[in-house]
Amino acid sequence: MEKIKIAFYDAKEYDKNSFISSNLNEEFEIAYFETRLTKDTCKLAEGYDVVCIFVNDDVNHEVIDALCKMGVKLIALRCAGYNNVDIEYAYGKIHVVRVPAYSPYAVAEHAMALLLTSIRRIHKAYIRTKDFNFSLNGLTGFDLHGKTVGVIGTGKIGRVFMDICKGFGMNVIAYDKFPAADSGIEYVSLDEIWERSDIISLHCPLTDENRHMINAETMKKMKKGVVIINTSRGALIDSEALVEGIKARQIGAACLDVYEEESNVFFHDYSNHIVNDDTLARLISMPNVIVTSHQAFLTNEALTNIADTTLDNIREFFEKDTCPNEVCYKCANIANCKQTHEKKCF
Ligand code: NAI
Repeated sequence: MEKIKIAFYDAKEYDKNSFISSNLNEEFEIAYFETRLTKDTCKLAEGYDVVCIFVNDDVNHEVIDALCKMGVKLIALRCAGYNNVDIEYAYGKIHVVRVPAYSPYAVAEHAMALLLTSIRRIHKAYIRTKDFNFSLNGLTGFDLHGKTVGVIGTGKIGRVFMDICKGFGMNVIAYDKFPAADSGIEYVSLDEIWERSDIISLHCPLTDENRHMINAETMKKMKKGVVIINTSRGALIDSEALVEGIKARQIGAACLDVYEEESNVFFHDYSNHIVNDDTLARLISMPNVIVTSHQAFLTNEALTNIADTTLDNIREFFEKDTCPNEVCYKCANIANCKQTHEKKCF
């Protein structure tokens, strides 16, 4: 039997290693392309059955039309979020599968790592002691114990993060558009999150409705000195407003693993270049901002699960009628797609 052919976009060394190490790898013919999937690069997928993509590949109308024309049958996301795919336009034309969970621990633990680094000034101390500067001036932090953390999005990652916070003796409050019944979670309104939280951590998907949910107006409602953590999607925060909020000392610190304009910058080495994004440059220049480049998922466990689930999704799509990890805007609310039917979405 002919092998299923996969055009693998935005391929990094660690992606290749994890896919090549997967037990399912031999069943597929995979071409690894370093470039992202865009309208200009989609022609590379000519002759392939599947395109395999990540968070910053841009699957808009044009790309979907081009892929369909070339006979590509499936878009296989190797991530959980799917805000970069026009899922509504794809419906009835090309199927989309994702990896709904690969390691909520990886992301939640990274969120806590960012928080601890920030408030205990570890990023500063590391550089100081490397230079044999053992002064403690300016390194005063604060206890997490007894502080209130507001978690937005109480799905897989949000819940692990809440458990970690409880381990630190923090008070946990949460907001979710679809609160989980009988979960024991203290759900509050968004306004209460803004008003009561010492730390706010974002763990919800990006949708049209919550784009820039952290903006100049909502920042005004927050406690002075609040710490904001974003390991979800960059555009949940209005970055220019964040710069102003930090300059005004309203925001005490920001821990960002994602950034709204990350697609042209993150995952690349620009250490010998002048970065053109002034907002990002300003954020990085601030002593109370930590930026990691969409790194939260990057653990061995997560990479193994991503490779295995992606290849399993593809195999199941071509061999069976079922497709449990298909994403479709009709399954349920697009922000909370929960597959309820047993067959493929169309
Ligand atoms: P999940 O689907 O298990 O949970 C998301 C939660 O957000 C659900 O409880 C849902 O009801 C809630 N929600 C939906 N719309 C909302 C809204 N408008 N306001 C508040 N809550 C809303 O997803 P999971 O696995 O916990 O992932 C959360 C997000 O983390 C993903 O959407 C993705 O954007 C991001 N992510 C980031 C990674 C990274 O490396 N930085 C890696 C993996 C995911």
